[in-house]
Amino acid sequence: MQETTSKETQRTVVSSGNPELDSRMGGGLPIGSLILIEGASGAGKSVLSQQIVWGALQDGFRATLFTTENTVKSLVSQMDSIDLAVLDFVLLRRLRVYPIELSQLGETAPTALMKAVKNEREQDVIIIDSVTSAATTQGAVDAQILGFFEECKRICSKGVSIIVTLHSDALDLDLINPIRSMCDAHLKLFTEQDGQRLVKTLQVAKIRGAASVTGAIVGFEVEPGWGMRVIPISKARG
Ligand SMILES: Nc1ncnc2c1ncn2[C@@H]1O[C@H](COP(=O)(O)OP(=O)(O)O)[C@@H](O)[C@H]1O
Ligand SMILES: [Mg+2]
Repeated sequence: MQETTSKETQRTVVSSGNPELDSRMGGGLPIGSLILIEGASGAGKSVLSQQIVWGALQDGFRATLFTTENTVKSLVSQMDSIDLAVLDFVLLRRLRVYPIELSQLGETAPTALMKAVKNEREQDVIIIDSVTSAATTQGAVDAQILGFFEECKRICSKGVSIIVTLHSDALDLDLINPIRSMCDAHLKLFTEQDGQRLVKTLQVAKIRGAASVTGAIVGFEVEPGWGMRVIPISKARG
């Protein structure tokens, strides 16, 4: 009876499970937020969203992950490879993993995805990695994609945190700008030259309620057996 999950102690943020990273993000991502993670291929969108899934599970939250890149098995072993063990959570159904093939759905992708997300609205955290193909597929309609984000926002207002990853290069600014402004948190991932080396960086474009970290740039590495490790970079701010 003494045991309480962290959720019962009323967390107000979703943690990445990495204290250093959380502190760079103003303490964590506020619950009930629509969170956009943008970046090119290999920038770290999947790894960052996996960190957040893991952090959420550690705090007693229930999570659903829609993945366009993995099967349940490959997701579990990918997460294992960066020391984010989730098999037990999958078996206990505290983590539900749904592989989806958005590119096959063509113009119906946003509606189909919305239906699937709505079915999960009893969960605490919902991750979609990634929506890129829904937004860039032949026949994709901007209004439907925006409609999808608006519907996500409505679900968030009930206390669900939704994380969406997107490779935005292929999108028109007319589409990406309203999406960016709709989100409560916006994280951008880049691979940049830092002196002689290439480093991965996370730029905190915004996090609702954490204005002090706006614009902060964090360098990180993805290490086998460890996950995301914050590293010093010369241009780091904040
Ligand atoms: N187990 C691992 N060991 C080492 N590097 C990894 C591991 N898993 C992922 N990475 C690296 O992390 C980086 C980010 O990958 P990922 O998150 O899949 O990118 P994105 O989803 O943005 O395309 C890549 O450089 C990838 O090689
Ligand atoms: Mg990915």
